[in-house]
Amino acid sequence: MQDFSDRVAVITGAAGGIGLALARQALARGMRLVLSDLDRDALQAAGRALGADPARLQLHAADVSRDAEVAALAEAAFARFGAVHLLCNNAGVGFSRLAAEHSAADWEWVIGVNLFSVAHGIRHFLPRMQAAGAPAHVLNTASAAGLVSTPGLSAYNASKQGVVALSETLRAELVAQHSPIEVSVLCPAWVPTGIHASSRVRPERYGATEPASEASRPYEQTMEHAVLAGRLSADDIARIAFEAMARGQFYILPHARIGQAVQERFAEIAAAAVHTPAAQPSPAPTP
Ligand SMILES: NC(=O)c1ccc[n+]([C@@H]2O[C@H](COP(=O)([O-])OP(=O)(O)OC[C@H]3O[C@@H](n4cnc5c(N)ncnc54)[C@H](O)[C@@H]3O)[C@@H](O)[C@H]2O)c1
Repeated sequence: MQDFSDRVAVITGAAGGIGLALARQALARGMRLVLSDLDRDALQAAGRALGADPARLQLHAADVSRDAEVAALAEAAFARFGAVHLLCNNAGVGFSRLAAEHSAADWEWVIGVNLFSVAHGIRHFLPRMQAAGAPAHVLNTASAAGLVSTPGLSAYNASKQGVVALSETLRAELVAQHSPIEVSVLCPAWVPTGIHASSRVRPERYGATEPASEASRPYEQTMEHAVLAGRLSADDIARIAFEAMARGQFYILPHARIGQAVQERFAEIAAAAVHTPAAQPSPAPTP
């Protein structure tokens, strides 16, 4: 989608970080906005900070890991503006510790918010976007963790690799259907946002986050330091994402150095492929 002006964007996880930066970019491009987040107070504050015309802005609190709440978000967005042209499945949470020290609840929380949310978004928005028959775009926020696996982030890596796989699958399906709807998958490395403090928005039903063990603490600290030291800002990421969407780019990797890590990963995978000699034709039966 090249022309964003006066189109409608729905952005999840929009109360802060990359989601709020996407909202600023969308607003600057003349879009009408439906902003959603689990954190109601932060969402209200974000709405005020944006300074958008209230007639062009809707705030809708939702926990995107819950199917029914994403369904209600879609209902509200279409009821308010009659169409959705850009769906940003962006909400996500970070969590770091050794793989064996992720509890079952930790897995459910991280996979629910980071991966199921994208599936819910596609299920509840895409059919109605397709029915409109107009150009539209789905932007899924994955991560560099969707392409390379950093130690200490097992559930996060798994969730984001799932988002990349889901995005690739969706793109192939839409291309096969000659759909005017495009897909992009955003894969940033570390960006200074609130992601290292995601426990603040961990729903009660998952129980409180257990303190990290001595063995896990360095991973937790590494994530916090890496996030806070991120060189590209959330606004940089959002600008790069909009420019890439306007070019119709699928993979969006704002950090150049990730390309090298991706190449190394896939070179190792490709080198591991076993080269079986082509099957020999069986000799002609002798009389
Ligand atoms: N910051 C980074 O280093 C980084 C790198 C790569 C990818 N990402 C991804 O970017 C996206 C945005 O994260 P961010 O870095 O801006 O972090 P952030 O914590 O600043 O923002 C995430 C937002 O998601 C909301 N949220 C959390 N759980 C939710 C739920 N269940 N339902 C609805 N909203 C929920 C939070 O309230 C918050 O406003 C995430 O998908 C994250 O995985 C971040």
